[in-house]
Amino acid sequence: MAPEPRLARWLQRVEARLEAALPASDESPQGLHRAMRHAVLGGGKRLRPMLVYAAGAATGADESLLDAPAAAVELVHAFSLVHDDLPAMDDDELRRGRPTVHVAFDEATAILAGDALQALGFSVLAEESRAPDALRVAWLATLARATGAAGMCGGQALDMDGTGAALALAELERLHALKTGALIRAAVRLGALAGRADAGTLAALDDYASALGLAFQIRDDLLDIEASSEQLGKTAGKDAAQAKSTYPALLGVDGAKAALARQVARMDAALSGLPGELDPLRALARLAVERSH
Ligand code: IPE
Ligand code: IPE
Ligand code: MG
Ligand code: MG
Ligand code: MG
Repeated sequence: MAPEPRLARWLQRVEARLEAALPASDESPQGLHRAMRHAVLGGGKRLRPMLVYAAGAATGADESLLDAPAAAVELVHAFSLVHDDLPAMDDDELRRGRPTVHVAFDEATAILAGDALQALGFSVLAEESRAPDALRVAWLATLARATGAAGMCGGQALDMDGTGAALALAELERLHALKTGALIRAAVRLGALAGRADAGTLAALDDYASALGLAFQIRDDLLDIEASSEQLGKTAGKDAAQAKSTYPALLGVDGAKAALARQVARMDAALSGLPGELDPLRALARLAVERSH
């Protein structure tokens, strides 16, 4: 089967699981529930869930085990976006072509919706009764580490500290590895854990995911310069306006594109020695690098 139909099917699976996991909008507290649904449903490329399924396919996982980690990582990602957009952080009004949560609702609701989405992500993993206990604990530990101070939250702190500063390339790489790379690596690992991958396979997939995470954020930084707000569904040109530390800011657009090309080579090399069904992982690598929004 070509990878494209598989991705479309996985998309339907994760959308259904997200819908089922979210609290109903007509139940109290309605404002909070509606804000959570606004943040998660109706948009988003769902890259991280697709990586869970693709890593699961590469390692022979039972597909029915992958819906929970796919939904969980997307819920944590949605939380990260709600808080990233807050006035105290990037102060953005547009996300996925719609008003951000604090604009559509209010700031307190956006903070609480982010908090609740994070907790919901972990509940979805903990309560997946099809998964053996040891797998659930490994999933929870993986997602927790990737979300917290050693992962996405730590990266967001470095991003705020790095605003208006001149970072060295190694510092910028670490910032991107944490704020964006950590959840992307977690997505791949969650899928591979479901496939009971051995240590060597986990390591090779982690190399792939590290390169993909960096490539994804470099592409995000380039699109902020080269694409329109309409195309992106979020306000273009924000990074320069806010003096963010980005690859194009440090290396120029051509330098950032060269860095992106180096990550493509890293992804190819990481996958080259692996057995299994790798077409979906290759398709997602292309999507991360060539995407237009
Ligand atoms: C945006 O992530 C934040 C970054 C880490 C660059 P995505 O580009 O995956 O956003 P959605 O989920 O598709 O909206
Ligand atoms: C956000 O990076 C990474 C997160 C952890 C949410 P950006 O701030 O560049 O993401 P966008 O451009 O707002 O989507
Ligand atoms: Mg940000
Ligand atoms: Mg932002
Ligand atoms: Mg950005």
